[in-house]
Amino acid sequence: MKKILVIHGPNLNLLGKREADVYGKVTIEEINKDLKRMAGAKKVTLVIVQSNYEGEIVDLIGKSKGKYGAILINPAAYTHTSIAIRDAISAVKVPTVEIHLSNIYGREEFRHKSLISPVAKGQICGFGKMSYILGLEAAISLVDKK
Ligand code: DQA
Repeated sequence: MKKILVIHGPNLNLLGKREADVYGKVTIEEINKDLKRMAGAKKVTLVIVQSNYEGEIVDLIGKSKGKYGAILINPAAYTHTSIAIRDAISAVKVPTVEIHLSNIYGREEFRHKSLISPVAKGQICGFGKMSYILGLEAAISLVDKK
């Protein structure tokens, strides 16, 4: 199934305006455009959602089984707090790639722990927009394996 669900978590709608020293000047629209271009070239369909609501993200993941071959997620602040998102990924077993723009291990201590990583296939962080591109490459490789 060559369909991938891309989830941008809370506050990522503010990219470009938000803490540019940490996240850069790139906007979510620019990231989505690059992801779509790459997916098109690789004949993969993307569904891209940004949500500031934990329950909405849990619902999306919960309904992903059988619909998507992989999930690419930047859980943003929920990375460090959400047992519900972790449990949803664990429940559906759709292969999931976790990504972050910033290097969460080089920042405040509360960002060093990801509740998502243990249930993700892997994590990519610290490369700005490139984290998404590398993450999509990884997600496509997981879809191709199926
Ligand atoms: C982030 C890192 C998180 O710690 C933070 O809460 C975010 C963005 C990143 O992409 O670097 O909102 O996920």
